[in-house]
Amino acid sequence: MSNSTHEAGAAVTGRQSGFYAWINKRFPLDRMLKEHVTEYYAPKNLNWWYVFGFLSMLVLVIQLVTGIFLTMSYKPAAADAFASVEYIMRDVEWGWLLRYMHSTGASLFFVVVYIHMFRALMYGSYRSPRELLWVFGMFIYLALSAEAFFGYLLPWGQMSYWGAQVIVSLAGAIPMVGESLVEWVRGDFFISDITLNRFFALHVIAVPLVLIGLVVVHILALHQVGSNNPDGVEIKEKKGPDGKPLDGVPFHPYDTAKDLVAMIVFLIVFSAIVFFAPEMGGYFLEHANFEPADPLKTPEHIAPVWYFTPFYAVLRAVPDKLGGVILMGGAMLILFFLPWLDRSPVKSLRYRGWMSKTALAAFVVSFVALGFLGTQPATGMYTILARVFTVIYFGYFLLMPLYTKYDAVKPVPERVSHHG
Ligand code: HEM
Repeated sequence: MSNSTHEAGAAVTGRQSGFYAWINKRFPLDRMLKEHVTEYYAPKNLNWWYVFGFLSMLVLVIQLVTGIFLTMSYKPAAADAFASVEYIMRDVEWGWLLRYMHSTGASLFFVVVYIHMFRALMYGSYRSPRELLWVFGMFIYLALSAEAFFGYLLPWGQMSYWGAQVIVSLAGAIPMVGESLVEWVRGDFFISDITLNRFFALHVIAVPLVLIGLVVVHILALHQVGSNNPDGVEIKEKKGPDGKPLDGVPFHPYDTAKDLVAMIVFLIVFSAIVFFAPEMGGYFLEHANFEPADPLKTPEHIAPVWYFTPFYAVLRAVPDKLGGVILMGGAMLILFFLPWLDRSPVKSLRYRGWMSKTALAAFVVSFVALGFLGTQPATGMYTILARVFTVIYFGYFLLMPLYTKYDAVKPVPERVSHHG
């Protein structure tokens, strides 16, 4: 850093002496704060859809902290797990609060991440130059799904056990290696103490480490290219004489203030659920999971937690097991390819025509409908509907190169607009 920039920085922070200066000589604290916070320029037209990345980080921290404390009283053994969760709920000081925060946090993690992803679909945030940012996001989504799946076995309730049984056995559909693969994953001939132990290891250390690492590279990639915005205009293309984007504002205090408001609203909703409806009518904590796991008694109706039900509905819509597994995996993985499927000359939906708008609306309807169907028994009309919505779901992606190419678009302004 040159002397003059250093002095300018000192004037801004006014803290270039004493302990702060001592630190900065040995660690790039000031430089990092400037680069990523006080002199990171975000578009000035970011709207409320842009608070969900920050909220995802907040929930990640809540999950890590409550998870650490839960681990202090939880026992990862088939004979003790269920009872240790009851012990946490009844005897451990504030244990009930920790557990409800963690279970509510799991569901709300998916709520905020799904909204965060939807925003990217609306504004074309996955488009060049943000492809890698999107791909890192998709890896986060896969890691988050794995984290939720492993965590769900830990209370060792009926649904924990049978849910894991259904999902792990899906690998058995793979020709040749399927059965051996299932055994390898379980570490046994059935879901057992050994499986519980390894899922515990994966849930409390392996996947969280991966998640944290992915979030770091996600943010680094974001700060390399800068945020997109509701107009889909690249603010770096119009800079003032000082070299700063004309349509940019410093992330702090402008966006941090907005994120703070979002955090307060989020915490109000979060507390309301934790204190008044932690089971959320069986959607956040399923009723069958209040019964201890019984390998000899299959529950009448097995369904995953709500955030996986859209994919579960796709799985069951296909009569063939292998076909179902391929389609379910495809339903998640196809999102990786969005940056290359979208051929529209504009990014944001604001300047796209009716075809893109209808396609996105149909996609959302199909995702929600599949989510509902995944909670219902796979019979008669429900199966037919699941097939129809699966076709619409895939249609959104597979037809995208066509409808984005032929859709009429409106002219995109040179600078960001102010109604955002
Ligand atoms: C733990 C989960 C996640 C965290 C903590 C996180 C964090 C963030 C943050 C703080 C931002 C900037 C603020 C904002 O635009 O909201 C951001 C932007 C973004 N994230 Fe994530 N994210 C997560 C998951 C995902 C996932 C699953 C995807 C997509 C598959 C994704 C895709 C994006 C994209 C495309 C942007 C840029 C949006 C734009 O500039 O318009 N993120 N993320």
